[in-house]
Amino acid sequence: MSIAVHPDHQESGIGTALLKWIIDFFEKAGATQLEVGTGTFGYQLAFYQRQGFRVTGIDRDFFVKNYDEPIFEEGIRLVDMLRLTIRYGGDPA
Ligand SMILES: CC(C)(COP(=O)(O)OP(=O)(O)OC[C@H]1O[C@@H](n2cnc3c(N)ncnc32)[C@H](O)[C@@H]1OP(=O)(O)O)[C@@H](O)C(=O)NCCC(=O)NCCS
Repeated sequence: MSIAVHPDHQESGIGTALLKWIIDFFEKAGATQLEVGTGTFGYQLAFYQRQGFRVTGIDRDFFVKNYDEPIFEEGIRLVDMLRLTIRYGGDPA
């Protein structure tokens, strides 16, 4: 699933509130980990890492292979996708 906040309402805390709700929901549901995918740069990366997500993998060429149109962020084409994971109960050492 994708997460998005209407542009008129971005940067007012709604996205963070949604993400925290999702993290909490799956923890209570008994999940052992939660994984998301995002671009390799941009504010979205900080958005997830601030909540405790850590980089666990990279899907090279993901945005080229899976989208008909090129996607640009900050004038740079998105090519690879980072996988980020929260492990409930903490990351193993
Ligand atoms: C990512 C998204 C869901 C975050 O929702 P939001 O309501 O704007 O998030 P918040 O208000 O909780 O802000 C979270 C942080 O992101 C930053 N941020 C949000 N939008 C930003 C933008 N357009 N440019 C730069 N920083 C931005 C905020 O400043 C904040 O950082 P701070 O705490 O250092 O101030 C929203 O920006 C969005 O819909 N983006 C477009 C779709 C998208 O990229 N989805 C994620 C795909 S992986």
